[in-house]
Amino acid sequence: MPAAPTAVLVGLGAWLPPRRVPNSELCARLDTSDEWIRERIGIAERRFAEPDVSTGDMAVEAGARAMASAGADTVDAVLVATSSPDHPCPATAPWVAHRLGLPSVAAFDVAAGCSGFLYAGTVAAGLIASGTAHRVLVVGAETMTSIVDPDDRATAPIFGEGAGAVVLEAGVPHAEGAMGPVVWGSDGSLADAIVVPAGGARGRRERDRAARGDFFVHMRGNEVFRHAVRRMAAAARDAVAAAGWEMGDIDRLIAHQANQRITAAVADTLGVPVGNCPSNIHEVGNTAAASLPLLLAHAADRGDLKPGHRTLLVAFGSGLAWAATTLVWPAGLTARL
Ligand code: COA
Repeated sequence: MPAAPTAVLVGLGAWLPPRRVPNSELCARLDTSDEWIRERIGIAERRFAEPDVSTGDMAVEAGARAMASAGADTVDAVLVATSSPDHPCPATAPWVAHRLGLPSVAAFDVAAGCSGFLYAGTVAAGLIASGTAHRVLVVGAETMTSIVDPDDRATAPIFGEGAGAVVLEAGVPHAEGAMGPVVWGSDGSLADAIVVPAGGARGRRERDRAARGDFFVHMRGNEVFRHAVRRMAAAARDAVAAAGWEMGDIDRLIAHQANQRITAAVADTLGVPVGNCPSNIHEVGNTAAASLPLLLAHAADRGDLKPGHRTLLVAFGSGLAWAATTLVWPAGLTARL
């Protein structure tokens, strides 16, 4: 029996809103400092979209670039990973597909926090393996200022905005760019560690009495930090084993950009030199579901990811939810930024 088709990375794109927001701009409003944000999180600046630019708008920009990178003018499905959709209803993805000139294709959102991009990629790989789709556009896009309180120093310095996207296409297992086995999971007992309390079904009876802050992210940062390191390291180890690799084979660790200290701790736990962990958090912040595809695009563009590199991807975030997978970086892939 022939092997099921495998999802292969054939296109990569990214888009950042042009407005740079240095730490100094946040310090004017919050009881924090440029030094604290740089040392404790690793961020110097992030990008914020203009108020009339939405998650869907950024997803269209990144999606168009990924499709151009793939040389593809059509796909069979569009998946948008986001925690900051344009509307509670409908999903953002159908509108993105429409704007990309893809009428009638299946399109839906994936809500899995900062792991959303890898979760969406896993769903896309399943669609490809089952023969339901030949080629899928997977976008991670976030407008975090729609859910982050600008007056909360515990969250406001962390997050940034932008979008990244990949095109996955049916190919043969073990080809360069083929997605390896995915290790993923969740722990809903800690759902309240990163939560927007109001605006959903759970808080609907109190909606009229909800405080302004209830519509923004509440986060127990320190607790999230500890779980992030533990879960990312465990998922990464399992994904490497599932691929039949050794940790020493890993050329590049592409980790969700939550905090540079988290990346360093995960790398240390795994024994991967921190110099082999490309990073862009200093210039974009934590862009949640957009983080991994943005980092892939920036690392590829800078030559930090080279053809043949054995690459380990790992993400963690609200849910709590985590995911990890592997791939050999393909030749002939040019990121479009
Ligand atoms: N500026 C200055 N001081 C701050 C601050 C800020 N923005 N935020 C917190 N502090 C203070 C605290 O009040 C505390 O002061 P105290 O020691 O006098 O009580 C001190 O800094 C340490 O607080 P703590 O919460 O332990 O800091 P931390 O080192 O854990 O860093 C985070 C806080 C949020 C940066 C860090 O926990 C983190 O990155 N967590 C993961 C967050 C994340 O990315 N989540 C998204 C999904 S993965």
